Amino acid sequence: MSVEARDLAVEFAYRFGRLPTVSRAPGRVNLIGEHTDYNDGFVMPAALEFATLTAAAPRPDRRLRVYSMIMDETREFDLDAQRPAPRNDWSDYVFGVAVMLERSGRRLPGADLIVWTDVPIGSGLSSSAAIEVSSAHALLTAAGLPFEPVEVAKICQRAENDFVGMRCGIMDQYVSCRGVAGHALLIDCRSLESRNVAFAANLRLLVANSSVRHQHAGGEYNARREACEEGVRLLRPLLGPIKALRDVTPDQLESHRRVMPDLIYRRCRHIVAENARVLEAESALLAGDFAACGRTMNASHVSMRDDFEITCPEIDFLASLAQTIEGVYGSRMTGGGFGGCTVSLVEASAVERVSSILVDGYRIGIGLDAEVFACSPSDGARLIPV
Ligand code: GLA
Repeated sequence: MSVEARDLAVEFAYRFGRLPTVSRAPGRVNLIGEHTDYNDGFVMPAALEFATLTAAAPRPDRRLRVYSMIMDETREFDLDAQRPAPRNDWSDYVFGVAVMLERSGRRLPGADLIVWTDVPIGSGLSSSAAIEVSSAHALLTAAGLPFEPVEVAKICQRAENDFVGMRCGIMDQYVSCRGVAGHALLIDCRSLESRNVAFAANLRLLVANSSVRHQHAGGEYNARREACEEGVRLLRPLLGPIKALRDVTPDQLESHRRVMPDLIYRRCRHIVAENARVLEAESALLAGDFAACGRTMNASHVSMRDDFEITCPEIDFLASLAQTIEGVYGSRMTGGGFGGCTVSLVEASAVERVSSILVDGYRIGIGLDAEVFACSPSDGARLIPV
């Protein structure tokens, strides 16, 4: 079901008896730069056309009442609660953001909200950042406060780290706040500055959903993060006051590999090499050398598969298949890992042929249905007319 802002406003008027504003925040696909964000490194995502819409209007008290059209559930929250606790469901993203907005010194009124999304959930396309950012946008609008993209991205990340309990980096929230139509964003996750990287008109991003659900809220994602931190601890006595793997060059890592267990070394090698690949991919895209950009994507996949070990057989199958098809420049897993989607850089004229080869090949090779869709980079969070 596709819901327009107007449908959401009608539902809102029906349930709550007044008219809302409607905020929209997109999911994302990451072209390259996986797990580099929490290492102060580089990433290059683009905002998707899939998004979360949040209809909202203020209330005279300090209660938040949220209805999810997807879950058909309502949750309530008291902004004055002394010790706000997560419920371990979808509403944590909304209430976690409210808690962190208030902790940042922004005073919110109570509000009624309705959320709806078409971002595939749990597929590595940032459904969580989309609901966080769209809630933040809606709550700030209800409060009459400005939406400052980078500040809001940090607040949403804090909600996910400290309220939901997932130690994610800043990439997803950043691009959901700040995405620019027709562009990928090269984000420096240390300075939090970004550059718009124009996307050529004859290029498409083809996303293939393996339909294997990723579950990285728990152990594996946080374990990768700890391995990177361990690498920094082991290298610090040798390299001086480094803060993150961003500060380590491939040569430095190589010459000190003996100070670390092989597993930690391989985790670090992925990050250090991936940072370099992101910058290479950016230059290649800007120079119109799509084949070179594609090669960095293929190399990124190998590194995620063998060194960082965050892929799975279904995803490896999809990426390798795509890499063999004419019209595909490169293909790799996108997102946190352990399932989810691949992203391929594809010549526009080849999209239909590539899609059907992927769908048929996946059904024959793995026995599952893959959903494949072509995306054009869209804008970050904003109000949409009702
Ligand atoms: C998830 C996290 C991001 C990032 C990616 C991996 O999407 O939310 O911060 O770490 O995984 O690149």
